[in-house]
Amino acid sequence: MTTRTNDSNVFWLDRADGQTYPPLSRDCTVDVAIIGAGMTGLHCALALRDSGLRVVVLEARRIGRQATGRSTAKVTSQHGLCYARLAKDFGGDHARLHAQENERALELVADLSAQIGARAAFERRDAFVWATDEDEARELEREAEAARAAGIEAVVERNAPVPVPELATLRFPRQAQFDPFGYLRGLSGLVSGSVDIHEDSRVTSVKTGESCQISVNGFTVLAKTAIVTTQMPIVGEGHFFAKAFPFAHPVAAAPLADGVEVNGMFINAGSPTRSLRTAMRDGRTYVIAAGDEFRPGEPEDERRAVGDLVDFLNRRFGIEEPTHLWTNEDFRPMDGAAFIGPADGRHPNLLVATGFAAWGITQGVVAGELLAALARGEHHPAASLYDATRHKPVAGGAEFLKENLKAGGHLVGDRLFNRKALPLDEIASGQGGVVSHDGEKLAVRRDASGATVVLSAICTHLGCVVDWNATDRTWDCPCHGSRFDESGAVLAGPATAPLEPRRFEDDVKADE
Ligand SMILES: Cc1cc2nc3c(=O)[nH]c(=O)nc-3n(C[C@H](O)[C@H](O)[C@H](O)COP(=O)(O)OP(=O)(O)OC[C@H]3O[C@@H](n4cnc5c(N)ncnc54)[C@H](O)[C@@H]3O)c2cc1C
Ligand code: FES
Repeated sequence: MTTRTNDSNVFWLDRADGQTYPPLSRDCTVDVAIIGAGMTGLHCALALRDSGLRVVVLEARRIGRQATGRSTAKVTSQHGLCYARLAKDFGGDHARLHAQENERALELVADLSAQIGARAAFERRDAFVWATDEDEARELEREAEAARAAGIEAVVERNAPVPVPELATLRFPRQAQFDPFGYLRGLSGLVSGSVDIHEDSRVTSVKTGESCQISVNGFTVLAKTAIVTTQMPIVGEGHFFAKAFPFAHPVAAAPLADGVEVNGMFINAGSPTRSLRTAMRDGRTYVIAAGDEFRPGEPEDERRAVGDLVDFLNRRFGIEEPTHLWTNEDFRPMDGAAFIGPADGRHPNLLVATGFAAWGITQGVVAGELLAALARGEHHPAASLYDATRHKPVAGGAEFLKENLKAGGHLVGDRLFNRKALPLDEIASGQGGVVSHDGEKLAVRRDASGATVVLSAICTHLGCVVDWNATDRTWDCPCHGSRFDESGAVLAGPATAPLEPRRFEDDVKADE
């Protein structure tokens, strides 16, 4: 099934080139199969390039079109405010390890970008977190102290030259920003000589055993080790969909007016989220901004976050309408550290990485390298920090449980208690919504001519009800973050099967 995502509204993807790798079209046997070609998957491939192992990369769509290519693409060891929390919940040694690994990842991206050249658009920038009140300013002080203890240069400043009203900023010098799609395309070129890469090759199942049996395009790949780097793992082992919850943000881009400057990369300590960076295009400076968090598959929440971001850009930079507007999704782990490693204790040859909490550019590098070390049978110093088999939520358990119950609530509430559906005539041309018909929830979209395209609204992962994302024109699942295009094809897992088509005559009335 060909996917029809609206990538043209994404700044990094609107000029995406047509270079492709062939779909997998035969059975094969390999040492390592990497499933997913984002930041994590391709860095894993790079780390295995010279290992002597037979490695294949299986990418469902095209390289870099999921979270990495839709991110704001800051390449940082500053991950919002994380060091004070990591030190408190996991200990100072672990915070130091996180700092070292992510700093190392940043330098590796710098080196690789130099090899890739202009398309990586790698630029050194300072990274700032800003505070607008005294409570937040105190948080910056605590974070600076923890970051310095972890070995990172971090300074709190008053009156820094930032483009927003602030009380104090926390500055990490010499961080970076890049073009995530150009970088991943370049990176694929660096590995494709030694590693087979296949695009349009969606993995639909992974059977574990001495070798993993991977189904893709009607063929079977037998792999001694399967490495699942699909963001939320598409496999059930380890139950990661219940250990990390999905969240999304709108992202917008627009050229800055002459004389307006944004010198650095910025994010606020409070809410609603304001994240800023710049990018050069055709001789003009664009601002790329992410707005407030929302839950995927909640149309009202999404509209609110989009409206708030557009309004902020208008007030702060005089931008009337962004040239690009899209949404992106990531997964927040239950206790604040990513999950990287064997999915569970019983399957040492099934490896996963997830839960980067919107900071997966450098963490994706760390994950790729850690997973490659495990596939080579080697130890990695950060394996225990990110141990994917850990059981107890060290911290954040209450919030996690609340979110998880919300996901469970969707499941029960949506399936059994009839989630509120729209009257059919409220769905305008070009829009979508969920209607109830003959007791079934249907995902109904009207095309430009007003004709309806009808699908089952039941997510093929675990049966929650999807809803319409008007910004990206996708059907998104609130429970574990699967995304489907207008025709029902999977864009992002954990689902691997499309929404089922349904017939629905326009003159049939929807249920009240
Ligand atoms: C709004 C927003 C802004 C962000 N900005 C930043 C930032 O500035 N800096 C930062 O560090 N992080 C940022 N992030 C987080 C970052 O984008 C992600 O954590 C990171 O890109 C994840 O990389 P990945 O390789 O794990 O996943 P992805 O890039 O999503 O790659 C997964 C790949 O797997 C493929 N796939 C999926 N299912 C299958 C299947 N069944 N078979 C085969 N292939 C499959 C997908 O097509 C995709 O190519 C942001 C996140 C959000 C939501
Ligand atoms: S993603 Fe799990 S039910 Fe939809």
